[in-house]
Amino acid sequence: MGLITTKEMFAKALNKDYAVGAFNVNNMEIVQGIVDAAKEEQAPLILQVSAGARKYARPAYLVKLVEAAMEDSGLDIVLHLDHGEDFDICKKCVDDGFTSVMIDGSKHEFEENIALTKKVVEYAHAHGVVVEAELGKLAGIEDNIKVDARSATFTVPEEAAEFVARTGVDSLAVSIGTSHGAYKFKGEPYLDFERLEQIHKLIPDTPLVLHGASTVLPEFVARCNQYGGNIPGAQGVPEDMILEAVKHGVCKVNIDTDLRLAMTAEVRRFLIEHPEEFDPRKYMSPARDAIKAMVQHKIKNVLNGSNRL
Ligand code: G3H
Ligand code: 13P
Ligand code: ZN
Repeated sequence: MGLITTKEMFAKALNKDYAVGAFNVNNMEIVQGIVDAAKEEQAPLILQVSAGARKYARPAYLVKLVEAAMEDSGLDIVLHLDHGEDFDICKKCVDDGFTSVMIDGSKHEFEENIALTKKVVEYAHAHGVVVEAELGKLAGIEDNIKVDARSATFTVPEEAAEFVARTGVDSLAVSIGTSHGAYKFKGEPYLDFERLEQIHKLIPDTPLVLHGASTVLPEFVARCNQYGGNIPGAQGVPEDMILEAVKHGVCKVNIDTDLRLAMTAEVRRFLIEHPEEFDPRKYMSPARDAIKAMVQHKIKNVLNGSNRL
């Protein structure tokens, strides 16, 4: 039992019909809910921490929470930095004991992204840590209006091959039409599977990563709205589209928004139904259960059971 890298789990998942879930963590209840689900489903697990999560929980807390989760569950876990924006934060996380870091140089020009990613790879690999990078920019809903404008930000397959060869990165996040958050599409959901296939064909040994992979299940949006929320027009990536992506080299599926919705729906419901309660444990317990149920749902329906440990 301990912190592990993604090396073995991706090698196993590559070219199979399942992927490993990477779930964002921000506090104790989220960590517990996710880990309880992974344990019950015997699924491999990546817990990821964004810069925002690091700031919110304070760096030492999340590392210790994940250590406690491993001790409590007996599971091996990957501790991953999500969207590290510069060398400094990647180095800090490597030094703090993370086993995987993402350097997100996608906002930079190609050559600059390569130089930055290479620098992180050199440092991380020297410390036994694996690196995820990103090429192409995730589409925003505003780009949905013009497909031309959107596809201009998608990952170019030949560039992906050159990028991986020149950086030595361990896995690559690609842009094929997903975006972060609860508002991914205005009209029909669309992912560029042809592009994904081309990328996978050119770099068949590189595990691909799908960011922005929440489905934004209507039931949870409806529950948030029913209990006083205001989340109109939310739409995510249909589950069958994630399953399709998994068939074309996607080994890591990033999920945050669906956890946020599940937790918030439950807190809202509880507080409205029990206006007399003010003990945080009373509403954080069902919220933690909601995280667990959502992660189990993902493992079964989107990650194909993560093929068991
Ligand atoms: O990539 C975005 C993740 O959902 C993390 O979001 O930066 O608000 O923690 P955050
Ligand atoms: P969602 O917003 O779709 O959950 O994506 C999360 C993500 O990509 C984290 O890096
Ligand atoms: Zn992301």
